[in-house]
Amino acid sequence: MSNVLEADVQDAPLVVSSTGSGRDRDTPAASSRFKALYNVAEVRKAARAVLPRPVFDFADGGAEDEHTLRRNVHAFSDVALLPRPLNGAATCDLSAELFGRRLAMPLLIAPTGLAGLFWPDGEREAARAAAASGIPYCASHGSVCTLEDIAGTGVDPRWMQVFVYKDRGFTREMVERAAAARYSALVLTIDNQLLGNRERDLRNGFTIPPRFGVAGTLSTAAKVPWLWRMRKTLPRLTFGNYVRPGSAEDIATLAGRLADLLDPGLSWADVDWLRGLWRGPLLIKGVLHPAEAWEAVNRGVDGVVVSNHGGRQLDGSPAAFDALPAVVDAVKGRVPVLMDGGVRRGADVVKALASGAAACLIGRPQLWGLAVGGEAGVRHVLDIVRREIDRTMGLMGATRIGDLGPHCLVPARAKCSARR
Ligand SMILES: Cc1cc2nc3c(=O)[nH]c(=O)nc-3n(C[C@H](O)[C@H](O)[C@H](O)COP(=O)(O)O)c2cc1C
Repeated sequence: MSNVLEADVQDAPLVVSSTGSGRDRDTPAASSRFKALYNVAEVRKAARAVLPRPVFDFADGGAEDEHTLRRNVHAFSDVALLPRPLNGAATCDLSAELFGRRLAMPLLIAPTGLAGLFWPDGEREAARAAAASGIPYCASHGSVCTLEDIAGTGVDPRWMQVFVYKDRGFTREMVERAAAARYSALVLTIDNQLLGNRERDLRNGFTIPPRFGVAGTLSTAAKVPWLWRMRKTLPRLTFGNYVRPGSAEDIATLAGRLADLLDPGLSWADVDWLRGLWRGPLLIKGVLHPAEAWEAVNRGVDGVVVSNHGGRQLDGSPAAFDALPAVVDAVKGRVPVLMDGGVRRGADVVKALASGAAACLIGRPQLWGLAVGGEAGVRHVLDIVRREIDRTMGLMGATRIGDLGPHCLVPARAKCSARR
């Protein structure tokens, strides 16, 4: 009995701010403002409490039956981490190199449209949080503020996500703007040329034009702090990158135009064309098929992002984490493979890295952080994930990212047998 008590005391999160080992394994809640939010799931809950239902569901939801959305999260628990504590991992270097730049940790903020709906100036707040945490921010085509405004924060490295439009002239314009604003990498998203069927949005009336209905309107009216905070933003909410100089276009008009602009006929010829247009690193986001990854590399693409758009597009597609190993095999180390979808814990990042990913991106967790505290909320989320990566690596006996590999993973319910 006393042994149990001792174990409980040792495991309790009463660790002082430094272990003296050089590793950062102090208690998660660094800022008293977020002191009850120990993990990303708790930040999500807090975001649900402050956001109107249609806004929360816009981020939280996925396509159709949300099979892929759930799979993304659960896939990580099908795999277990096999530690080697006697490796002597007293210190741990979390940094990773990507396209010649050193990142403080192998994490990026994924492009998420309408981040400015979660907090005023949401994109710039999140970009500043990324900069403070030493990781890249990937701006979405569908940001509320313009790509130039985001660049103005000085976040570096900054990446720009684009689509291919029926009007290739407009596509070229967007790419040229990204180059002029000195974005270092271009991300072509290939899984959104048709909009996924997001039924939570339909049910909530989060549509163009909005049809909130009684429940949505009441839920919105009840979120007084959010309404008050957003009072100046809401009337001029728009897709900043699509507003033509001199015309004040509202979000409904632009969203309608955007759906028409996307070209469902996107093909490899467009990838070749973009390759010719953009000098820096070009990544393709939305790759699940290994043959597509292989082809992309052969056509001069510099990186692939294994992703199913967070389960918001093709419901029924595999979890991104499950699709990752085959893509890594196909690419054979010729370019970095990144992944996103369902990353909620530092341990998820460690599992992805062990499966061959160069880095992970987080979408929703960043939006939940924004909703609870703007820049500080996103920093809190990034801090949680960083500490969890560090702790997981320490417990695994890993001193650097390069120590991770398939030998660190076993099926969750199989008998333990190290691969190497
Ligand atoms: C509200 C929201 C908006 C998004 N907008 C974009 C976008 O504009 N472009 C894009 O490539 N991906 C977009 N995504 C997908 C994310 O980049 C990313 O693939 C996904 O969120 C990862 O899954 P996670 O949310 O589980 O981390 C969006 C995701 C969300 C939740």
